[in-house]
Amino acid sequence: MSAQPQVIRREDYTAPAFLIDKVELVFDLDRDVTNVKSRLFIIANPVRGTGAGNEVSFDGEDMKLVSIAIDDRKLGVDEYSVDKTGLTFTAPGETFVVDIETQVSPVTNTRLEGLYVSQSAFCTQCEAEGFRRITYFPDRPDVMATFTVTINADKATCPVLLSNGNLAKSGDLDGNRHFAVWEDPFPKPSYLFALVAGDLACVEDSFKTVSGRDVALRIFVEHGNEDRCDYAMDSLKRSMKWDEEVYGLEYDLDLFNIVAVSDFNMGAMENKSLNIFNAKYILAKPDTATDMDYELIESIVAHEYFHNWSGNRVTCRDWFQLSLKEGLTVFRDQEFSADQRSRPVQRIKDVAQLRARQFPEDGGPLAHPVRPDSYMEINNFYTATVYEKGAELIRMMHTLLGADGYRKGIDLYFDRHDGQAVTCDDFAKAMEDANDVDLTQLKRWYSQAGTPSLSWKGDYDADAKQFRLTVSQKTAPTPGQPDKFALHMPIAIGLLGKDGKELVSRTVQLTENEQEFVFDNINETPVVSFNRGFSAPVNIATQQPHDELVFLMGNDSDAFNRWESAQKYATALMLAAIEEFEKNDGDADGALGDVTDFITAMRATLQNDDLDKAFRADALVLPGEEFLSEQRKPANPEAIHQVRNALRKQIGTMLKAEFADTYHQNVSNAAFTPDAQSAGQRALRATALGYLVASGDAQFADLAAAQYRNANNMTDRMAALAVLNHLDHPGRAEALADFEERFGKDTVVMDKWFGLQAMSSRDDTLARVKDLMSHPSFTMRNPNKVRSLIGAFAMANPRHFHAADGSGYEFYTDRLIELDDINPQVAARLCAPLGKWAKYDDDRAAKMKAALDRVLAKPEISRDLYEIASKSRA
Ligand code: PHE
Ligand code: ZN
Repeated sequence: MSAQPQVIRREDYTAPAFLIDKVELVFDLDRDVTNVKSRLFIIANPVRGTGAGNEVSFDGEDMKLVSIAIDDRKLGVDEYSVDKTGLTFTAPGETFVVDIETQVSPVTNTRLEGLYVSQSAFCTQCEAEGFRRITYFPDRPDVMATFTVTINADKATCPVLLSNGNLAKSGDLDGNRHFAVWEDPFPKPSYLFALVAGDLACVEDSFKTVSGRDVALRIFVEHGNEDRCDYAMDSLKRSMKWDEEVYGLEYDLDLFNIVAVSDFNMGAMENKSLNIFNAKYILAKPDTATDMDYELIESIVAHEYFHNWSGNRVTCRDWFQLSLKEGLTVFRDQEFSADQRSRPVQRIKDVAQLRARQFPEDGGPLAHPVRPDSYMEINNFYTATVYEKGAELIRMMHTLLGADGYRKGIDLYFDRHDGQAVTCDDFAKAMEDANDVDLTQLKRWYSQAGTPSLSWKGDYDADAKQFRLTVSQKTAPTPGQPDKFALHMPIAIGLLGKDGKELVSRTVQLTENEQEFVFDNINETPVVSFNRGFSAPVNIATQQPHDELVFLMGNDSDAFNRWESAQKYATALMLAAIEEFEKNDGDADGALGDVTDFITAMRATLQNDDLDKAFRADALVLPGEEFLSEQRKPANPEAIHQVRNALRKQIGTMLKAEFADTYHQNVSNAAFTPDAQSAGQRALRATALGYLVASGDAQFADLAAAQYRNANNMTDRMAALAVLNHLDHPGRAEALADFEERFGKDTVVMDKWFGLQAMSSRDDTLARVKDLMSHPSFTMRNPNKVRSLIGAFAMANPRHFHAADGSGYEFYTDRLIELDDINPQVAARLCAPLGKWAKYDDDRAAKMKAALDRVLAKPEISRDLYEIASKSRA
């Protein structure tokens, strides 16, 4: 990058001057030089404004233009111009045909955007702007065309040839090559194009839709992995059924293909009828995948499938509207998982994730609205805000309109916009029109960044038998948005009587900066259960007294708030102790003081057999170090680490007998099944093991080592390894060596091994991470490897990443600079942790800023990394 990258603004949107009716592509696949012929049937856009002119401008990057012809006449070099970003020429009229021939090099494509090679297969990734790395094209989502794709390839190395839509034709060619022709009848934007060619194994099944059509389902994987596709396949079928039942949406083609690849920038991609997945989110069998892996596979398979309607049939007009498809589809997959498993446990997971990933984003230098106003590089906007906060916004609409009203809005949306590229406003308008409501104020969630903070105060009037609840909201300034409006949010409230009985359960609508809600016929001072189910995605500043929190932990009918009350209590204790620790110079136990009441409440949760085990496992987990750092300024990583560990130790010590019982009662000798109930049992047992080891009693480290050795599934194995990982116990080295020996050839499983070591709190962690970079299974070219070793170190090991001597930052910065030349998209994503400098003490902040300066000084820095580093530095 030489000049500062251009800023793209939402307000500058203009409709495309030319549309493309039909695209015909011919690929001659070769690892070194792939030849791409593209025939485009173009028409001037009838809605284009005056002054659109007759200049045609196509995007294109990193490839060689071989030739261009218009209406079968080859253009001379003076009839077009081509540079690093694209191709322009003059339109001969309103409708015409363009032929473009380009050459690309899949094997040197380390960015993994466009056409690249993963293991030995060819595959593509086109969202957001990868198609322009395959051929010159108006690479924007509001240009939708039907695609016919011919793939020519070597028969021996590429027996499988896939693209979108239906297979129209296939056959042999000279020179040991063969071909396939794929036709996709649904017009689509270029970002949904996909091609796969390689020697892949295939697992097949089928699904009968509501209207009785049979859909062939295929999952393609590397040979040898055929026995790891069952769960993904089952998840796919359940997703198809759920979408019919809950949304009335049926699949629209006779086949649905999924391909799992090892090298992938993201989780998965919803290309029309040819989803491409990071292998990590497809492959699972009991001895290679944990319960958490199974859960993720289920939700990501569903997510990509749901995109067939929310994303593909109705897509985004421009990339500022990304949350139109992502927020909606995340909400859909969250609800699917809630229906498949436990609803409260799912909500707890989703909220914990939102708090861990989105709240920090919203409170930092990269804060942006769900619908951003500008970007330099769109790849940087596949964020927790666009995805998860976007999903919360849809959830609030659902809460406001009710399930039936929401469904009416959804029906109208798909009815009205099928086949179109639309905006977030169009979505909200469908919701409004179908329900005859005005969502103007709720829509501010699309445009206003920052997490609102709510305070509340209750006032009971015994004479009037009235309870008044005063609620106020405030959102702190974010970059570019100094002043904030009051947002509209539904707040679910419960009022509980002394005996635990529910007096009131009601959802109020907060629309003002400060507002009073009155509850009549209340006969006693109630305990307030505020923002039940996390009905609004906000922070709550009001501290409830500890005895009320204990009361709610034991009595709230809203399971989410039972969990939340425990989190709040633990947070309050730890924050006070962290402050004390900093004063008393490092005595964490002394800083905690007497925590008996809290631990007594934890015991009650642990022993409450009315609560399901997965819930109890979650409710016993203390808020994480990252979450605590967010609440402190400056955050002291060492204090946070010590205090949290000290509390864990006290819990483990005080509840040793109870945890030992839990541990032994939840042994299962049955064969592993990934269902929610069995997973909950394993999770509770793992929690118990964690606390037993935390107690410091050496016999439990032996128990963990034994659990590792005797495990008959990956969940139990990893649970044991996760606790051994921080210890000096000989079982640690033994288990890590065993793991490497068992799974050394298995790239997906080895990610766990790298990740664990990067997350260890042991003193030798950084040295070990450095060593592991030269492990034969490690490569900077594979995003999963980079994320599990380098990413985990920065994002899940605050104590070592923020080491006072700056060694963590230094190592990390070298990696970012190195990675930027290989894969800028992944490098940019990994840069965010350095941007948190404002949260730390002056010394650390100075070191982090110096690290960002070093990143920014890199010659030829990518647009991706530049945007994140420069915004983070500001
Ligand atoms: N659209 C994908 C999803 O959310 C994510 C993705 C974005 C994948 C960009 C690859 C590249 O389902
Ligand atoms: Zn998505």
